[in-house]
Amino acid sequence: MTTVQQPLLTPVRLGDLELPNRVVMAPLTRARAANTDLAPTRLHPAYYAQRAGAGLIVSEGTWVSDRAIGYLNVPGIYSEAQVAGWTAVTRAVHDAGGRIVSQLGHVGSVSHPDHLGGRQPVGPSAVNPGEKTFIPTLGLTDTGTPRAFRADEIAATIEDYRAAAANARRAGFDGIELHAQGSQLVAQFLNPRLNQRTDAYGGSQDRRARFLFDVIAAVGEVWSSGRIGVKLSPYWTNGSAFTADEDTLADYDRLIARLTSAGLGYLHIMGPASAPERLTSFARYRSLYDGTIVANVGFTRDSGNDIVERGLADAVSFGAPFIANPDLVARFAGGHPLADADRNTLYGGGAEGYTDYPTSHATHLT
Ligand SMILES: Cc1cc2nc3c(=O)[nH]c(=O)nc-3n(C[C@H](O)[C@H](O)[C@H](O)COP(=O)(O)O)c2cc1C
Repeated sequence: MTTVQQPLLTPVRLGDLELPNRVVMAPLTRARAANTDLAPTRLHPAYYAQRAGAGLIVSEGTWVSDRAIGYLNVPGIYSEAQVAGWTAVTRAVHDAGGRIVSQLGHVGSVSHPDHLGGRQPVGPSAVNPGEKTFIPTLGLTDTGTPRAFRADEIAATIEDYRAAAANARRAGFDGIELHAQGSQLVAQFLNPRLNQRTDAYGGSQDRRARFLFDVIAAVGEVWSSGRIGVKLSPYWTNGSAFTADEDTLADYDRLIARLTSAGLGYLHIMGPASAPERLTSFARYRSLYDGTIVANVGFTRDSGNDIVERGLADAVSFGAPFIANPDLVARFAGGHPLADADRNTLYGGGAEGYTDYPTSHATHLT
Protein backbone atom coordinates (compact mmCIF):
# COMPACT_ATOMS: atom_id res chain seq x y z
CA MET A 1 0.00 0.00 0.00
CA THR A 2 1.37 3.41 -0.85
CA THR A 3 0.81 6.09 1.71
CA VAL A 4 0.54 9.67 0.56
CA GLN A 5 1.89 12.24 3.01
CA GLN A 6 -0.90 14.41 4.39
CA PRO A 7 -0.31 18.07 3.44
CA LEU A 8 -0.85 19.05 7.08
CA LEU A 9 2.08 16.86 8.10
CA THR A 10 4.65 18.47 5.80
CA PRO A 11 7.10 21.15 7.01
CA VAL A 12 6.49 24.83 6.38
CA ARG A 13 8.19 28.12 7.01
CA LEU A 14 6.12 30.94 8.56
CA GLY A 15 8.36 33.99 8.34
CA ASP A 16 11.36 33.19 10.57
CA LEU A 17 9.65 30.17 12.11
CA GLU A 18 10.45 26.70 10.72
CA LEU A 19 7.66 24.26 11.50
CA PRO A 20 7.92 20.48 11.11
CA ASN A 21 4.19 20.30 10.32
CA ARG A 22 1.32 22.65 9.49
CA VAL A 23 -0.87 21.84 12.49
CA VAL A 24 -0.94 24.94 14.70
CA MET A 25 -2.39 24.89 18.20
CA ALA A 26 -4.78 27.87 18.32
CA PRO A 27 -4.69 30.11 21.40
CA LEU A 28 -6.92 28.72 24.16
CA THR A 29 -7.77 30.61 27.33
CA ARG A 30 -8.08 27.99 30.08
CA ALA A 31 -8.10 30.29 33.15
CA ARG A 32 -5.79 28.18 35.32
CA ALA A 33 -3.69 31.06 36.74
CA ALA A 34 -5.62 31.24 40.04
CA ASN A 35 -3.04 33.26 41.99
CA THR A 36 -2.73 36.92 42.89
CA ASP A 37 0.24 37.32 40.49
CA LEU A 38 -1.84 36.01 37.55
CA ALA A 39 1.28 33.97 36.70
CA PRO A 40 1.43 30.56 35.00
CA THR A 41 1.50 27.79 37.62
CA ARG A 42 3.38 24.48 37.61
CA LEU A 43 0.49 23.01 35.59
CA HIS A 44 1.12 25.27 32.60
CA PRO A 45 4.51 23.82 31.51
CA ALA A 46 3.04 20.30 31.66
CA TYR A 47 -0.06 21.29 29.67
CA TYR A 48 1.88 23.01 26.89
CA ALA A 49 4.65 20.38 26.73
CA GLN A 50 1.99 17.68 26.22
CA ARG A 51 0.98 19.58 23.06
CA ALA A 52 4.51 20.17 21.72
CA GLY A 53 3.84 17.91 18.72
CA ALA A 54 2.06 20.89 17.13
CA GLY A 55 4.03 22.61 14.39
CA LEU A 56 3.53 25.77 16.45
CA ILE A 57 1.75 26.48 19.73
CA VAL A 58 0.10 29.87 20.20
CA SER A 59 -0.23 30.50 23.94
CA GLU A 60 -3.53 31.42 25.52
CA GLY A 61 -4.26 35.16 25.29
CA THR A 62 -2.18 36.87 27.96
CA TRP A 63 -2.55 40.42 29.33
CA VAL A 64 -0.12 43.13 28.26
CA SER A 65 -0.79 45.12 31.46
CA ASP A 66 -3.03 45.17 34.52
CA ARG A 67 -5.29 47.58 32.57
CA ALA A 68 -5.87 44.96 29.88
CA ILE A 69 -7.66 42.41 32.08
CA GLY A 70 -11.18 41.16 31.42
CA TYR A 71 -11.46 37.57 32.66
CA LEU A 72 -10.66 35.72 35.86
CA ASN A 73 -7.48 33.68 36.41
CA VAL A 74 -5.98 34.41 33.01
CA PRO A 75 -2.22 34.96 33.15
CA GLY A 76 -0.44 38.15 32.15
CA ILE A 77 3.03 38.91 30.82
CA TYR A 78 3.73 42.28 32.43
CA SER A 79 5.39 41.30 35.76
CA GLU A 80 8.55 39.45 36.78
CA ALA A 81 6.53 36.64 38.40
CA GLN A 82 4.66 36.16 35.13
CA VAL A 83 7.88 36.18 33.07
CA ALA A 84 9.29 33.52 35.42
CA GLY A 85 6.17 31.40 34.99
CA TRP A 86 6.26 31.70 31.19
CA THR A 87 10.00 30.91 31.15
CA ALA A 88 9.19 27.51 32.66
CA VAL A 89 6.55 27.02 29.95
CA THR A 90 8.83 27.83 27.01
CA ARG A 91 11.60 25.59 28.45
CA ALA A 92 9.21 22.67 28.80
CA VAL A 93 7.91 23.13 25.24
CA HIS A 94 11.41 23.45 23.78
CA ASP A 95 12.64 20.44 25.77
CA ALA A 96 9.75 18.48 24.26
CA GLY A 97 10.83 19.59 20.76
CA GLY A 98 8.14 22.24 20.19
CA ARG A 99 7.85 25.92 19.34
CA ILE A 100 5.61 28.48 21.10
CA VAL A 101 4.63 32.09 20.54
CA SER A 102 2.96 34.33 23.12
CA GLN A 103 -0.45 35.78 22.31
CA LEU A 104 -0.62 39.37 23.58
CA GLY A 105 -4.06 40.73 24.41
CA HIS A 106 -6.08 43.57 25.91
CA VAL A 107 -9.88 43.52 26.23
CA GLY A 108 -10.45 47.28 26.32
CA SER A 109 -14.09 48.04 27.01
CA VAL A 110 -15.18 44.39 27.41
CA SER A 111 -14.24 44.40 31.07
CA HIS A 112 -15.59 45.50 34.43
CA PRO A 113 -14.22 47.66 37.28
CA ASP A 114 -13.93 44.46 39.37
CA HIS A 115 -11.20 43.24 36.98
CA LEU A 116 -9.43 46.59 37.03
CA GLY A 117 -9.04 47.43 40.72
CA GLY A 118 -12.18 49.58 40.60
CA ARG A 119 -11.16 51.57 37.51
CA GLN A 120 -13.65 52.13 34.70
CA PRO A 121 -12.91 50.13 31.53
CA VAL A 122 -11.53 52.18 28.65
CA GLY A 123 -12.34 51.82 24.95
CA PRO A 124 -11.73 53.70 21.71
CA SER A 125 -14.91 55.75 22.38
CA ALA A 126 -17.50 55.95 25.14
CA VAL A 127 -19.76 53.33 23.55
CA ASN A 128 -21.01 50.28 25.41
CA PRO A 129 -20.04 47.16 23.39
CA GLY A 130 -23.16 45.43 24.73
CA GLU A 131 -21.26 42.32 25.76
CA LYS A 132 -21.08 40.21 28.91
CA THR A 133 -18.22 39.87 31.33
CA PHE A 134 -17.88 37.38 34.20
CA ILE A 135 -17.27 38.67 37.72
CA PRO A 136 -17.32 36.58 40.92
CA THR A 137 -19.93 38.70 42.72
CA LEU A 138 -22.60 38.73 40.00
CA GLY A 139 -21.55 36.01 37.54
CA LEU A 140 -22.12 36.94 33.90
CA THR A 141 -22.93 40.64 33.87
CA ASP A 142 -23.52 43.30 31.20
CA THR A 143 -20.68 45.56 30.17
CA GLY A 144 -21.11 49.26 30.85
CA THR A 145 -20.17 52.36 28.90
CA PRO A 146 -16.39 52.74 28.91
CA ARG A 147 -14.39 55.90 29.15
CA ALA A 148 -12.77 56.92 25.84
CA PHE A 149 -8.98 56.59 25.62
CA ARG A 150 -7.14 59.89 25.91
CA ALA A 151 -4.38 60.32 23.30
CA ASP A 152 -1.68 59.81 25.95
CA GLU A 153 -3.38 56.58 27.05
CA ILE A 154 -3.25 55.24 23.49
CA ALA A 155 0.51 55.90 23.44
CA ALA A 156 0.89 54.27 26.88
CA THR A 157 -1.09 51.20 25.74
CA ILE A 158 1.07 50.80 22.64
CA GLU A 159 4.07 50.96 24.97
CA ASP A 160 2.45 48.22 27.11
CA TYR A 161 2.39 45.97 24.03
CA ARG A 162 6.07 46.73 23.36
CA ALA A 163 7.04 45.97 26.97
CA ALA A 164 4.99 42.75 26.93
CA ALA A 165 6.69 41.72 23.67
CA ALA A 166 10.08 42.33 25.33
CA ASN A 167 8.96 40.21 28.29
CA ALA A 168 7.92 37.44 25.91
CA ARG A 169 11.40 37.53 24.47
CA ARG A 170 13.02 37.33 27.89
CA ALA A 171 10.71 34.42 28.73
CA GLY A 172 12.12 32.46 25.78
CA PHE A 173 9.16 32.52 23.39
CA ASP A 174 9.83 32.01 19.67
CA GLY A 175 7.73 35.02 18.73
CA ILE A 176 4.48 36.77 19.50
CA GLU A 177 0.96 36.88 18.11
CA LEU A 178 -1.22 39.97 18.48
CA HIS A 179 -4.69 39.08 19.69
CA ALA A 180 -6.71 41.24 17.31
CA GLN A 181 -9.70 38.92 17.02
CA GLY A 182 -13.09 38.64 18.68
CA SER A 183 -14.12 41.61 20.78
CA GLN A 184 -10.57 42.54 21.84
CA LEU A 185 -9.25 46.11 21.98
CA VAL A 186 -7.65 45.99 18.51
CA ALA A 187 -10.97 44.81 17.03
CA GLN A 188 -12.74 47.60 18.96
CA PHE A 189 -10.49 50.17 17.27
CA LEU A 190 -11.20 48.59 13.86
CA ASN A 191 -14.97 48.70 14.47
CA PRO A 192 -16.73 51.93 13.37
CA ARG A 193 -19.58 51.33 15.83
CA LEU A 194 -17.18 51.31 18.79
CA ASN A 195 -14.56 53.66 17.40
CA GLN A 196 -16.09 57.08 16.81
CA ARG A 197 -12.87 59.00 17.34
CA THR A 198 -12.12 62.06 15.30
CA ASP A 199 -8.34 62.01 15.84
CA ALA A 200 -5.73 60.01 13.93
CA TYR A 201 -7.11 56.70 15.34
CA GLY A 202 -10.70 57.03 14.08
CA GLY A 203 -12.77 57.85 11.01
CA SER A 204 -11.71 56.11 7.81
CA GLN A 205 -10.84 52.40 7.79
CA ASP A 206 -7.16 53.27 7.49
CA ARG A 207 -7.36 55.48 10.58
CA ARG A 208 -9.25 52.86 12.57
CA ALA A 209 -6.48 50.41 11.64
CA ARG A 210 -3.77 52.78 12.82
CA PHE A 211 -3.79 51.40 16.37
CA LEU A 212 -3.00 47.91 15.02
CA PHE A 213 -0.23 49.19 12.74
CA ASP A 214 1.26 51.24 15.60
CA VAL A 215 1.23 48.16 17.85
CA ILE A 216 2.89 46.09 15.10
CA ALA A 217 5.58 48.78 14.80
CA ALA A 218 6.10 48.85 18.59
CA VAL A 219 6.48 45.08 18.97
CA GLY A 220 8.67 45.21 15.86
CA GLU A 221 11.24 47.11 17.95
CA VAL A 222 11.68 43.89 19.93
CA TRP A 223 11.01 41.11 17.42
CA SER A 224 11.86 40.75 13.74
CA SER A 225 8.64 41.03 11.73
CA GLY A 226 9.03 37.36 10.71
CA ARG A 227 8.34 36.39 14.33
CA ILE A 228 5.19 38.47 14.67
CA GLY A 229 1.75 37.06 13.88
CA VAL A 230 -1.66 38.74 13.95
CA LYS A 231 -4.97 36.95 14.59
CA LEU A 232 -8.05 38.54 12.99
CA SER A 233 -11.71 37.50 12.93
CA PRO A 234 -13.57 39.27 10.09
CA TYR A 235 -16.68 37.12 10.63
CA TRP A 236 -16.96 37.70 14.39
CA THR A 237 -20.51 38.42 15.56
CA ASN A 238 -21.09 39.27 19.21
CA GLY A 239 -22.71 41.80 21.53
CA SER A 240 -24.34 44.85 19.98
CA ALA A 241 -21.33 46.03 17.95
CA PHE A 242 -19.74 43.07 16.19
CA THR A 243 -21.50 41.98 13.01
CA ALA A 244 -20.02 40.56 9.82
CA ASP A 245 -22.02 42.66 7.38
CA GLU A 246 -20.82 43.68 3.92
CA ASP A 247 -19.12 46.82 5.20
CA THR A 248 -17.27 44.88 7.91
CA LEU A 249 -16.03 42.27 5.44
CA ALA A 250 -14.96 44.96 2.97
CA ASP A 251 -13.08 46.75 5.78
CA TYR A 252 -11.27 43.54 6.66
CA ASP A 253 -10.44 42.85 3.00
CA ARG A 254 -8.73 46.22 2.83
CA LEU A 255 -6.94 45.69 6.14
CA ILE A 256 -5.71 42.23 5.11
CA ALA A 257 -4.36 43.60 1.83
CA ARG A 258 -2.60 46.42 3.71
CA LEU A 259 -1.07 44.00 6.21
CA THR A 260 1.09 42.56 3.43
CA SER A 261 3.37 45.56 3.91
CA ALA A 262 4.03 44.59 7.56
CA GLY A 263 6.01 41.51 6.46
CA LEU A 264 4.50 39.42 9.27
CA GLY A 265 5.58 35.86 10.06
CA TYR A 266 1.98 34.87 9.50
CA LEU A 267 -1.55 36.15 9.40
CA HIS A 268 -3.93 33.99 11.45
CA ILE A 269 -7.48 34.36 10.14
CA MET A 270 -10.71 33.02 11.62
CA GLY A 271 -12.94 32.32 8.64
CA PRO A 272 -16.70 31.80 8.58
CA ALA A 273 -18.23 28.74 10.22
CA SER A 274 -19.73 27.26 7.04
CA ALA A 275 -17.31 24.99 5.19
CA PRO A 276 -18.13 26.05 1.58
CA GLU A 277 -18.06 29.74 2.56
CA ARG A 278 -14.73 29.11 4.27
CA LEU A 279 -13.14 28.02 1.00
CA THR A 280 -14.35 31.09 -0.85
CA SER A 281 -13.21 33.44 1.88
CA PHE A 282 -9.75 31.93 2.16
CA ALA A 283 -9.44 32.05 -1.65
CA ARG A 284 -10.23 35.77 -1.39
CA TYR A 285 -7.74 36.33 1.45
CA ARG A 286 -5.09 34.39 -0.47
CA SER A 287 -5.46 36.73 -3.42
CA LEU A 288 -5.47 39.86 -1.22
CA TYR A 289 -2.57 39.00 1.07
CA ASP A 290 0.96 38.28 -0.05
CA GLY A 291 2.33 36.29 2.88
CA THR A 292 1.73 33.14 4.91
CA ILE A 293 -1.78 32.43 6.17
CA VAL A 294 -2.87 30.24 9.08
CA ALA A 295 -6.54 29.31 8.59
CA ASN A 296 -8.89 28.72 11.50
CA VAL A 297 -12.37 27.76 12.65
CA GLY A 298 -13.94 24.37 12.55
CA PHE A 299 -11.26 22.48 10.64
CA THR A 300 -10.95 18.71 10.79
CA ARG A 301 -8.08 16.54 9.62
CA ASP A 302 -9.72 16.20 6.19
CA SER A 303 -10.80 19.81 5.67
CA GLY A 304 -7.41 20.97 7.00
CA ASN A 305 -5.54 18.77 4.54
CA ASP A 306 -7.87 19.94 1.78
CA ILE A 307 -7.34 23.68 2.29
CA VAL A 308 -3.54 23.24 2.37
CA GLU A 309 -3.68 20.97 -0.69
CA ARG A 310 -5.68 23.66 -2.54
CA GLY A 311 -2.96 26.17 -1.66
CA LEU A 312 -5.41 28.47 0.13
CA ALA A 313 -3.59 28.33 3.49
CA ASP A 314 -0.03 27.54 4.58
CA ALA A 315 -1.06 26.06 7.91
CA VAL A 316 -4.27 25.36 9.81
CA SER A 317 -4.92 26.05 13.48
CA PHE A 318 -7.01 23.82 15.71
CA GLY A 319 -8.47 25.11 18.96
CA ALA A 320 -11.08 22.84 20.55
CA PRO A 321 -9.48 19.64 19.14
CA PHE A 322 -6.24 20.34 21.05
CA ILE A 323 -8.03 20.44 24.42
CA ALA A 324 -8.81 16.72 24.67
CA ASN A 325 -6.21 15.52 22.14
CA PRO A 326 -2.77 16.62 23.35
CA ASP A 327 -1.18 14.42 20.66
CA LEU A 328 -3.39 15.76 17.87
CA VAL A 329 -0.65 15.55 15.25
CA ALA A 330 0.06 11.89 16.06
CA ARG A 331 -3.68 11.17 15.89
CA PHE A 332 -3.87 12.81 12.46
CA ALA A 333 -0.83 10.81 11.33
CA GLY A 334 -2.26 7.52 12.57
CA GLY A 335 -5.87 8.25 11.57
CA HIS A 336 -6.92 7.76 15.19
CA PRO A 337 -10.30 9.03 16.41
CA LEU A 338 -10.47 12.29 18.33
CA ALA A 339 -11.70 12.64 21.91
CA ASP A 340 -14.22 15.33 22.92
CA ALA A 341 -13.41 17.90 25.59
CA ASP A 342 -15.41 18.11 28.81
CA ARG A 343 -17.13 21.49 28.59
CA ASN A 344 -17.31 21.79 32.40
CA THR A 345 -13.54 22.04 32.77
CA LEU A 346 -12.78 24.41 29.86
CA TYR A 347 -12.22 27.42 32.10
CA GLY A 348 -10.83 27.46 35.62
CA GLY A 349 -10.05 24.64 38.03
CA GLY A 350 -6.88 22.59 38.19
CA ALA A 351 -5.42 19.55 36.48
CA GLU A 352 -8.77 17.94 35.76
CA GLY A 353 -9.72 18.53 32.13
CA TYR A 354 -6.40 20.33 31.64
CA THR A 355 -3.35 18.08 31.93
CA ASP A 356 -5.13 14.73 32.36
CA TYR A 357 -6.31 14.02 28.80
CA PRO A 358 -4.50 10.85 27.66
CA THR A 359 -2.63 10.41 24.42
CA SER A 360 -4.13 8.16 21.78
CA HIS A 361 -1.49 5.53 22.54
CA ALA A 362 -2.46 5.54 26.22
CA THR A 363 -6.16 5.41 25.28
CA HIS A 364 -5.58 2.34 23.14
CA LEU A 365 -3.80 0.58 25.97
CA THR A 366 -6.70 1.05 28.38
C1 LIG B 1 -11.77 27.35 25.48
C2 LIG B 1 -11.41 28.33 24.40
C3 LIG B 1 -10.58 29.40 24.70
C4 LIG B 1 -10.16 30.28 23.68
N1 LIG B 1 -9.28 31.30 23.99
C5 LIG B 1 -8.78 32.07 22.99
C6 LIG B 1 -7.76 33.02 23.24
O1 LIG B 1 -7.24 33.17 24.36
N2 LIG B 1 -7.29 33.75 22.20
C7 LIG B 1 -7.80 33.60 20.92
O2 LIG B 1 -7.36 34.29 20.00
N3 LIG B 1 -8.76 32.71 20.66
C8 LIG B 1 -9.24 31.93 21.65
N4 LIG B 1 -10.17 30.97 21.36
C9 LIG B 1 -10.55 30.73 19.95
C10 LIG B 1 -9.66 29.65 19.35
O3 LIG B 1 -8.31 30.09 19.25
C11 LIG B 1 -10.14 29.27 17.94
O4 LIG B 1 -10.12 30.42 17.14
C12 LIG B 1 -11.53 28.68 17.99
O5 LIG B 1 -11.64 27.66 18.97
C13 LIG B 1 -11.93 28.09 16.62
O6 LIG B 1 -11.05 27.04 16.26
P1 LIG B 1 -11.56 25.51 16.38
O7 LIG B 1 -12.81 25.43 15.54
O8 LIG B 1 -10.45 24.68 15.84
O9 LIG B 1 -11.85 25.25 17.82
C14 LIG B 1 -10.63 30.10 22.36
C15 LIG B 1 -11.48 29.02 22.08
C16 LIG B 1 -11.86 28.14 23.06
C17 LIG B 1 -12.74 26.96 22.70
